[in-house]
Amino acid sequence: MLILNSPEVTQETCLRWKRESPIAFVPTMGCLHDGHLALVQRAKELAPKVVVSIFVNPLQFGPNEDFEKYPRVFEEDCRKLESMGVDLLFHPSVKDLYPDGFSTKISVGEIANRLCGAFRPGHFDGVATVVLKLFEITSCDYAVFGEKDFQQLTVIQQITRDFNLPVCVIPFPTVRADDQVALSSRNSYLSSSEREAAQKIPQALSAARKEALSNPHQTVGELLNKITPELSREGLKIQYLEITQSRRLLPTRPEERLESLSQPHLFVAVYAGSTRLIDNVSLNSGQ
Ligand code: PAJ
Repeated sequence: MLILNSPEVTQETCLRWKRESPIAFVPTMGCLHDGHLALVQRAKELAPKVVVSIFVNPLQFGPNEDFEKYPRVFEEDCRKLESMGVDLLFHPSVKDLYPDGFSTKISVGEIANRLCGAFRPGHFDGVATVVLKLFEITSCDYAVFGEKDFQQLTVIQQITRDFNLPVCVIPFPTVRADDQVALSSRNSYLSSSEREAAQKIPQALSAARKEALSNPHQTVGELLNKITPELSREGLKIQYLEITQSRRLLPTRPEERLESLSQPHLFVAVYAGSTRLIDNVSLNSGQ
């Protein structure tokens, strides 16, 4: 496995490879778990050359967020990627990607201001900016993104459409631990009692999905009222709990009936202690 930190050398290498074969890309911030590795496995099915990036992107962290504290375990990550047969690991420094004088940033617009975006101003602009750079550097034909971060996936689909990027964005279902908690690098911050509390999240989401499918006549407000108590106890604090509709994640009103929505989707962000956890589930019968 080639490990490169220079954007220029990575770009040259990928352009050379691209003449021979398609490239599949998996962007990450490292501290790799089985969710990330499942994305890499998917990438291997998509193209003969697989590129992974590890970069903790300061542009997407707010001033009071965990940029400094974000877990960094580079050696261990390398071993995992090497054993999976990844061709190239791109691991730039902050200065490599944002040298002095760097100034252009993407402004994603409406979709970036809802759900997580309402509580993390600038977050999705930072994600979109780094992902556009990474797409340019890797010349990837395919890029795999997890549905665990469903709003992020939607933002990437939006910029890919808006900028006519020649990349096929491939969604991948959320990978969960045995207790159904979605795998996340931030789970390492949880104490054992917080981890136990976190199990309430997938339980509430799966109960909500069952409820929605068995009684689509109920309203958004009724369903939210049923699951709010599930998430409000056991040491969790809800930041938001929302049902959106359409691929664009448009807001819904409490009096709207679930059956009248196209592609209803439930999103949640909660705090377990000081750790923020997000999860989501489709309320659509097809998925
Ligand atoms: P990171 O949190 O490291 O996640 C990298 C990729 O792994 C994302 O596409 C994310 O959705 C996916 N992922 C994380 N946990 C997952 C799980 N349990 N199941 C399936 N996929 C999962 O997301 C980022 O990094 C960054 O914002 C990034 C896109 C790299 C831009 O900086």
